[in-house]
Amino acid sequence: MPFLDSLNWRFAAKHFSSDKKVSAEDLDTVLEAIRMAPTSFGMQPFHAYVVSNKDVLKELRAASFDQAQVEESSYYIVFAARTDGVDRVDEHIEALAAGDPEKLASLEKMRSIRKKSLSKKSPEELVTWARNQVYIALGFALAAAAELRIDSCPMEGFLPAEYAKILQMPDTLIPAVSLALGYRKEGPERPKFRFSNEDLFTHVS
Ligand SMILES: Cc1cc2nc3c(=O)[nH]c(=O)nc-3n(C[C@H](O)[C@H](O)[C@H](O)COP(=O)(O)O)c2cc1C
Repeated sequence: MPFLDSLNWRFAAKHFSSDKKVSAEDLDTVLEAIRMAPTSFGMQPFHAYVVSNKDVLKELRAASFDQAQVEESSYYIVFAARTDGVDRVDEHIEALAAGDPEKLASLEKMRSIRKKSLSKKSPEELVTWARNQVYIALGFALAAAAELRIDSCPMEGFLPAEYAKILQMPDTLIPAVSLALGYRKEGPERPKFRFSNEDLFTHVS
């Protein structure tokens, strides 16, 4: 299926059908797309909650200005930005070394450069940096879902502090954006609109 056909097919679904559920296999493909998304320094400074529990979805809907697609989704993915960027450097380096002391030694320079770079950021800047990575993962998930002909709705319309409470997130996570997955109950409210190429792009050739 040509990629652009998939992008034209998708839209931000407001209601999902209760007759058809996204399969566990397709969910795994979307999660793998999230895992494979590129991130700054390759550090993947996010964590995602994959919610299918009906009671929890109901609570999340209430914390999302009553948006129905939250509760009607087969799976609702809540992306949270990690606030512990500097500690994440250590986790990343240890994981890259995979217990090999020689590899670990060869990664020490990288550790120090990355720690220095991230330590220069204020706590707010670190969260912004982590959030930026979350949105790349969201984009990959949206594209993967469309390729699988799974409907979706990316969402920011929720109360982050409420989400953190409902999902019992640790203090090191801040809910940033979410993605509802399911099968459309109805078509889009209006035709797809996008600004023109002239509006969006300047070629410097
Ligand atoms: C980061 C982000 C947050 C969004 N939040 C919501 C939301 O809370 N509720 C909703 O119904 N749509 C939400 N949308 C969907 C957009 O309104 C929609 O993607 C946009 O109007 C373009 O339409 P299309 O996705 O149908 O092509 C969000 C989209 C993005 C990318």
